[in-house]
Amino acid sequence: MIETRLNGRWRSALSLGLAAGALLAVSGCTNDSAPATSANLVNGKQLFVQKCGACHILARAGSKGVSGPNLDEAFASARRENWGDDGIRGVVYGQILYPNQNAPMPANLVTGHDASDVAAYVSTVAGKPGKDVGLLASAVAPAGGGKPAVEKNGVLSISADPNGQLLYVESTATGTPGPVELQMPNKSGVPHNIVIENGGITTPVVTNGIAKASGTLKAGEFVYFCSVPGHREAGMVGKLTVR
Ligand code: HEC
Repeated sequence: MIETRLNGRWRSALSLGLAAGALLAVSGCTNDSAPATSANLVNGKQLFVQKCGACHILARAGSKGVSGPNLDEAFASARRENWGDDGIRGVVYGQILYPNQNAPMPANLVTGHDASDVAAYVSTVAGKPGKDVGLLASAVAPAGGGKPAVEKNGVLSISADPNGQLLYVESTATGTPGPVELQMPNKSGVPHNIVIENGGITTPVVTNGIAKASGTLKAGEFVYFCSVPGHREAGMVGKLTVR
């Protein structure tokens, strides 16, 4: 039986998820118990990147967060045991609604149909090799790749990826020695800041706002990075040249 192969956490998440699906069905929101084929996978992918990717690796979504389990690895054995997308979807859905209260994953990061869409997307791709194709391939704009940031009128502005991916839009920047205001616009709901390593400038951490800090640039080459745990490791880093 499949049930004997599930670990305890998944078994309880699965039954809770099914119970919640039944309740929602009674209250008239039938889509929550509908098959994955009716889910909006593009919406699911976009929300996964915004709300979940900062803590989880999921290769097809390009997410690189490391504070939660790697979801490709987490579901690899489920794939081998032929749970199918539906079985995995139930576990992910249950986890979104009822994460372990002692773990740092907040409950209800997405709700209602959005939660179904995220669960459906994750179950469609987790632990599967290859790349997303068709509409899913273009669901989330690629992160990074911006032109170098250039200090202008004493302001150096380096943006966080607006979709919540763990990258700065600009991975290189230039400035001149002297006073500077460092700014980091962050349109996403994922917390970020920017630190100039050995440069004495650290902004506060912000979501949906502009982080700012003033300091003095010295000539040389510096690394800038996000000091929220796991973000630098995931690639949220760049190179600043001051001359
Ligand atoms: C703040 C970080 C954080 C965010 C954001 C987050 N998670 Fe998690 N997630 C975790 C942690 C930590 C665990 C491990 C929890 C535990 O051990 O009980 C986890 C566990 C999971 C698991 C179970 C994996 C396993 O090995 O059993 C799934 C599935 C999951 N998360 C999906 C999601 C989805 C989907 C979202 C977005 C709606 C999300 N997570 C958002 C941190 C996060």
